[in-house]
Amino acid sequence: MQTQQLGPTDTDFAKAADILARGGLVAFRTETVYGLGADARNEKAVAKIFEAKGRPSFNPLIVHVADQAQARQLAVFNDIADALAETYWPGPLSIVLPLRKGHGLAPNVTAGLPTVAIRVPSNAAALEFLRRSDRPIAAPSANLSGSTSPTRAEHVTADLDGKIDAILDAGTCDVGLESTIVMPTDDGLHLLRHGAITKEELNQKFGTIFEPEQDQDAPSSPGQLLAHYAPRLPLRINATTPAADEYYISFESFDFPKDASEDARLRAFAQRLYGELHRAFVERELLGKSKIAVGPVPNHGIGVAINDRLKRAAKTG
Ligand code: TXA
Ligand code: MG
Repeated sequence: MQTQQLGPTDTDFAKAADILARGGLVAFRTETVYGLGADARNEKAVAKIFEAKGRPSFNPLIVHVADQAQARQLAVFNDIADALAETYWPGPLSIVLPLRKGHGLAPNVTAGLPTVAIRVPSNAAALEFLRRSDRPIAAPSANLSGSTSPTRAEHVTADLDGKIDAILDAGTCDVGLESTIVMPTDDGLHLLRHGAITKEELNQKFGTIFEPEQDQDAPSSPGQLLAHYAPRLPLRINATTPAADEYYISFESFDFPKDASEDARLRAFAQRLYGELHRAFVERELLGKSKIAVGPVPNHGIGVAINDRLKRAAKTG
């Protein structure tokens, strides 16, 4: 299959929406990472996502919608969910909720679970693509299963060229890490994946935040069980002194704007981290480095999400 390269133009948005409507796969930019989109109501189209990524079928997908009204057709919102949607949508927060009767989603989107993860992305290109498509779009990150998520179109090409119908290139992602995933239940708010909407912030607004224990046998977010987010080179974390064969990514020596707060520096680091991991692999010969070492990253704010991804990446790297 020839993968079409599309851009954020009127004609190309129309082409992308048309491909999606016909059951094809389109990678598109969101504010977090690039997603690999398929019509969430079309079981065959959704099956192609699992095939292209090599993703295990028990790992459910996030459904992207254009607005809250569309989300409410798919899931049952409780009071916490209402407040979360009001506060953070459009934005990098996925909310896991019980499926609504008559939701119309293909069963493989949710991997047979009675719940669905939904989000309204804030990136303009993602919203335009959703509006033009006029249907919910199931989209995991647009990378091969287990590897580093793409934050630029060329990262998608490296993993999926020839396996998907099109890439809608709309530039570099703003956040650079996958969305925060939460599940509001009757007993409170559960944090299933750390992200740009931080635990600290959720805690201030919503009180106690429950976190599932790490490495449990039946995690509430099935994907979190897997080896994940790994670059194609061995990765070492909390490295203060890199070895000669290690490409060093250091929070301390990153070229941040002068006077940036630590919070702002962590966000800037998050935005560029995956790009650095991809670059280390692509340019390994040029750089003469066969491994990656990442320096310590302060563990607060978005730093918690960064450390979470790095830890998972190091496990399998
Ligand atoms: O930022 C993001 O979330 C990106 C962009 C494209 O939106 N998407 C993304 O998707 O990171 P993915 O498939 O790489 O990660 C989705 C995670 C998986 O860990 C999956 O297990 C979890 O969401 N998930 C999906 N549906 C769920 C559900 N019903 N209950 C619990 N976890 C769920
Ligand atoms: Mg992913």
